[in-house]
Amino acid sequence: MYLNEKEEKMYKGEVGESVRKAMEILVALGDIYNAERLIRVESAHIAGLSYKTHGDAGLKYVEDLVAIGASVQIPTTVNVIGVDRSRWRELGLPRYWAEKQLRILSAYEKMGCLGSCSCTPYYHGILPRLWEHVACAESSAVVFLNSVIGARDNREGGPSALASALTGLTPLYGYHLDQNRVGTHFFEVNAELKSISDYGALGAYVGRMIGEHIPVFDGISKNAPIEGLVALGAGLASSGAVAMFHAVGITPEAHTLEKAFGDAKPKERIQIGNEEMRTAYEQLTSAASSKVEYVAIGCPHCSIRQIKQIADLLRGKQVSKGVRLWIHTSVPIKAFCEKTGLTQTIEKAGGVVTADMCTVLGPIEALGLETAATDSAKLAFYAPGTNKLKVWYGSVEKCIEASIKGKWD
Ligand code: F3S
Repeated sequence: MYLNEKEEKMYKGEVGESVRKAMEILVALGDIYNAERLIRVESAHIAGLSYKTHGDAGLKYVEDLVAIGASVQIPTTVNVIGVDRSRWRELGLPRYWAEKQLRILSAYEKMGCLGSCSCTPYYHGILPRLWEHVACAESSAVVFLNSVIGARDNREGGPSALASALTGLTPLYGYHLDQNRVGTHFFEVNAELKSISDYGALGAYVGRMIGEHIPVFDGISKNAPIEGLVALGAGLASSGAVAMFHAVGITPEAHTLEKAFGDAKPKERIQIGNEEMRTAYEQLTSAASSKVEYVAIGCPHCSIRQIKQIADLLRGKQVSKGVRLWIHTSVPIKAFCEKTGLTQTIEKAGGVVTADMCTVLGPIEALGLETAATDSAKLAFYAPGTNKLKVWYGSVEKCIEASIKGKWD
């Protein structure tokens, strides 16, 4: 891969050891993917901060980087961590785990990252422009940025996003190039998508079928809620390795079906009707016992509108004794919801609004829970493996009802 004079110096360690380490990662990636050169990225979003994914080796790695003076060169945000910074004790999360987690976050903050701790930073104003090149490592956000905003982003890993943050660079390959952004498979959506969980289920169903290809959806309403499109992307990125979809009339590069496919013909044409949607819901449900002990909403992190909907559903009601209802969101959105009384409505009913964290990346399994309910396809897909939970999958209305009754029916 070609490096200009400045990049050569960075690669040789003439600009510091942390930059040399970062360049080593970027050049290796560029060589693997036959990138011609490096390009500038305007911002980075680093994921994989959870102690679950970092472990002690990752903690040592980032603290060592801080010790040698590593410092981010572009605006950089971080993804969720495994605990709520201010409420982990109250939530019963293990101390040894929380303390290591907070050391990891602190190391990233010392490198200059904004400790936003959210997988939906775009909900609170941290948003790239159309066509902007970025290095984001949160898989659901990658799909959202490529497909809804029209920014350009590969499915970065935590180390490569950090390397981009430390240098402001990324190799020019993959979704940064026009020719790799055209649709491959055609999905004609005849089913009506009514709830956010419908969008997530569709994403997870299609992701299983197409792996890392690019689906083109025709039939999704141009008025689809943003939260639905976020859930669609999260589902696609979980069961598959999808980094981008085209929704005709929504994706900036897909004003028409022809534009979505460029000059290519779809490899396959697949119908999505009510039967496929039923199968999608079944695939995401792993629970058998009707007793529900845990209800988790907010994967990806909730928007203000989602929290308002939950508050409306809970107003005047009470979460069943013995059920934990956790709503995951970011610090800024939680602060807004506190100001406007939404958090208080949820907590008066017995729910908890968390900030910073999520179920999948937190040590929820330490709580010894067995059966959960969620409206998140991503959580339903991962929680059986990462949190040892059996999961009911359904709409937010159904999940809140389960939290009130203590059972799924
Ligand atoms: Fe976000 Fe955690 Fe879900 S990072 S997308 S809430 S698994």
